[in-house]
Amino acid sequence: RSAGIVGAPFSKGQSRGGVEDGPERIRAAGLQRRLQQLGCAVKDYGNLTFEDMSRDEPMGLLKSVRAVGAANQKLSQAVRAAKEDGHTAVVLGGDHSLAIGSIHGHSAAVGELSVVWVDAHADINTPLTTYTGNIHGQPVSYLLHELRSKVPVLPNFSWLKPCVSAADVVFIGLRDVDPAEHYILKMLGVKTFSMSEVDQLGVARVMEETCDYLSARGKKPIHLSYDIDAIDPSVAPATGTPVVGGLTYREGVYITEHLCQTGLLSAVDLVEVNPLRGQTEEDVRSTVSTAIDLLLGCFGRVREGNHLPDYRLP
Ligand code: ARG
Ligand code: MN
Ligand code: MN
Ligand code: MN
Repeated sequence: RSAGIVGAPFSKGQSRGGVEDGPERIRAAGLQRRLQQLGCAVKDYGNLTFEDMSRDEPMGLLKSVRAVGAANQKLSQAVRAAKEDGHTAVVLGGDHSLAIGSIHGHSAAVGELSVVWVDAHADINTPLTTYTGNIHGQPVSYLLHELRSKVPVLPNFSWLKPCVSAADVVFIGLRDVDPAEHYILKMLGVKTFSMSEVDQLGVARVMEETCDYLSARGKKPIHLSYDIDAIDPSVAPATGTPVVGGLTYREGVYITEHLCQTGLLSAVDLVEVNPLRGQTEEDVRSTVSTAIDLLLGCFGRVREGNHLPDYRLP
């Protein structure tokens, strides 16, 4: 196993500063060293750089369209390159608009994907249904074949072709879904496990059903797009759009352990860690440390304990 880390310090998919500092904070907490301790090889591609858009006027409600388009084109190329180098791609965000480029680049390298979207939000507004204008609430609509006719062509997005089928997506952790998003999810028959289902079934059954559902359509490489706001704000408060009633730390980690065990996990986004949003330094530490543990779970860390295959008793 090897991790190809791509830092994406991008925040213009939403309007709160600070989320661009996510990659450095997650690295500073020792991500590379902790992955290596698990026996995972690590290639850090560093941070992408995003030029300032001099002219990026809102299009109706939509904010920073050109910046989001250009950033995601760059990210798509970077994720594609990390996959072509043979790594499991790890995208450190940045806001969730980055899933557009991450999933597109992943799919460009490996073909059809299964997508597991772990989030308090569905992020499936279209440019016409959004009422915040923030593109981090819209990435899924840009990626789905089924919504092609509902997403207008936008400046700096001409490179993007929808590459995911609605039947290959599972949402976990939903608890703040806009009416238009709920309509779209029902219309397309998307598989969702809201927090109600997590409560009802338990996380183990949710993950069993998630994997059974996805594998029935063929064992495609899995793209895990993990929004830290899926986790309860008591554990991960340093994020732009916290919502009460989220996944516990244990449920959150279990999701990554289970997906890792499938052997199909091929790329992971860890997004929306915003070090400026915590009330205290402890809020930030707890959020970043949770983000690290989610990533370690993706690369084989288990809570029973771990040792390298060449371990020798002294
Ligand atoms: N549904 C709201 C919107 O469209 C909130 C989205 C929050 N998304 C996120 N990636 N945190 O603006
Ligand atoms: Mn969210
Ligand atoms: Mn399974
Ligand atoms: Mn999100």
